Amino acid sequence: MATESLRKDHDLIEKVVKAMEVTLQLLKSGKKIPESILMPTVDFSKNFTDVCHHGKEEESFFPALAQSGMPTNMGPIAVMLMEHEITRKIAIKMEQSAKDYLASGSPDELISDISQYIEHMSQHLWKENNRLFMMAEMRLSGVSDKVNAGLDDVEQKKLAQLGKSRSDYESLVQNLQQDLSKIN
Ligand SMILES: [Fe+2]
Ligand SMILES: [Fe+2]
Repeated sequence: MATESLRKDHDLIEKVVKAMEVTLQLLKSGKKIPESILMPTVDFSKNFTDVCHHGKEEESFFPALAQSGMPTNMGPIAVMLMEHEITRKIAIKMEQSAKDYLASGSPDELISDISQYIEHMSQHLWKENNRLFMMAEMRLSGVSDKVNAGLDDVEQKKLAQLGKSRSDYESLVQNLQQDLSKIN
């Protein structure tokens, strides 16, 4: 399947979105969320999701779809590119509001940014999983090995730039889930 590597990323991203939903509820109920939960959440969103996963889509997957004849200046690819830009902006805002929250203890801004991130990312993942990836699986069915190899190349490059491995991010997500369950 041409989208195998990207769907695997989405599974990991969805776990973090779920962890953010838990964080949001805890913040709303007045619980204190430590730096050891907030900063890994920001790290994952800015680096794994934005740099690595969006890098794979933008530098390898969308070009493969363009080669198959899908336009890039309109239609689903143009919408996805615009949504990546919005996600990036929310993640940057969320990093600042997390730092402000840790310094001041006032959660309102952080609650608003996390809510926006969850809402935006959930609908973006839904569109890719149920629309774009379905189209891509048909268009790229004859070249799926080549597409996955291209995606893996970009993943290796991006993770090397970040000085991280995929298993670093997999353990980050596991720790996040465990740490949050202890606050519950
Ligand atoms: Fe995307
Ligand atoms: Fe994606």
